Amino acid sequence: MNTKETGADFLPINGTDYVEFYVGNAKQAAHYYQTAFGFQPHAYAGLETGLKDRTSYVLKQGKITFMFTSALVPDSLIAEHCKLHGDGVKIIALWVDDANAAFEETTRRGAKVYQEPEVIKDQDGEVVTSGIYTYGETVHLFVERRNYTGVFMPGFRKWNPEYRPAEVGLKYVDHMVGNVGWNEMNIWSEFYSRVMGFTQLVSFDDKDISTEYTALMSKVMANSNLRIKFPLNEPAEGKKKSQIEEYLDFYRSPGVQHAALATDNIIETVSALKSRGVEFLSVPATYYDTVLARVGSIDEELKPLRDLGILVDRDDEGYLLQIFTKPVEDRPTLFYEIIQRKGARSFGKGNFKALFEAIELEQQSRGTL
Ligand code: FE2
Repeated sequence: MNTKETGADFLPINGTDYVEFYVGNAKQAAHYYQTAFGFQPHAYAGLETGLKDRTSYVLKQGKITFMFTSALVPDSLIAEHCKLHGDGVKIIALWVDDANAAFEETTRRGAKVYQEPEVIKDQDGEVVTSGIYTYGETVHLFVERRNYTGVFMPGFRKWNPEYRPAEVGLKYVDHMVGNVGWNEMNIWSEFYSRVMGFTQLVSFDDKDISTEYTALMSKVMANSNLRIKFPLNEPAEGKKKSQIEEYLDFYRSPGVQHAALATDNIIETVSALKSRGVEFLSVPATYYDTVLARVGSIDEELKPLRDLGILVDRDDEGYLLQIFTKPVEDRPTLFYEIIQRKGARSFGKGNFKALFEAIELEQQSRGTL
């Protein structure tokens, strides 16, 4: 039953609040996301704000908020997380109007508790947070900020350095993808439907997503207003090791595989990202020989798309343009997708084969295929 039609959405979500990464060196990660991706300095917490065990830098671009957190001491869950997983996404925070209700509703339906509801206050008001675990060690934190007017959250101060490279036109988080373990797809898609009230938008199986060597399965779960879309990938048996298996080997557990960040002008955004040193996967030049025959006419010139390696796909509602970065840390784990939607609400199924062949070339160079 569609919860939107019955008005029975037990977990109303306004959007992605922020994404928190546990990293080895938050100061340098923040610099990288400023310099390479154009994120703007926003807030800071650390020794200077009274913390003893951690430092966090918060950066923003459009509606996207990223937080980078590092441990200051060895005996720390943050340090443990980095030791096991390397740098990666710890928290996908979801913006809600009632963090108590979100906690009640999801834990009553079986969610594992990460954090009981907590009110944090300062002179600018209060923020209520609560949290549950999802796949691996990844967490959904519910953030209620309707009674808060401060910079980010109590405990943070404004971070306002002189160094401010320009934004690159990133607007919002379009979707965030989780890689889950062998035979876990149904466990986690069922988690999102039963515990969080999400519905399944689409699914792909290994017939859709396979190359000569590798295979995977994917399902897309979404909340009722479609502001939160979580595709889930599970490895499937192929002749060689799939990119999902490679991720699981290096991350040492399920976790966030990629975040798709939306832009209104992918040619400008990707040109800027490339000039700042962001590395992208490139598909074979022959991709562009047949792309227009496959997707029909598009507003963009083909040449800049081909020069930049931007992919195109079409569904019943329109088309989309997308491109994927290489992993942004030493372990072949987290990467980014840059996406521009022109009507299409799908995820680029028509590009999967070309894309996975490009990823396999990278895997081959790492000796992990
Ligand atoms: Fe994606």
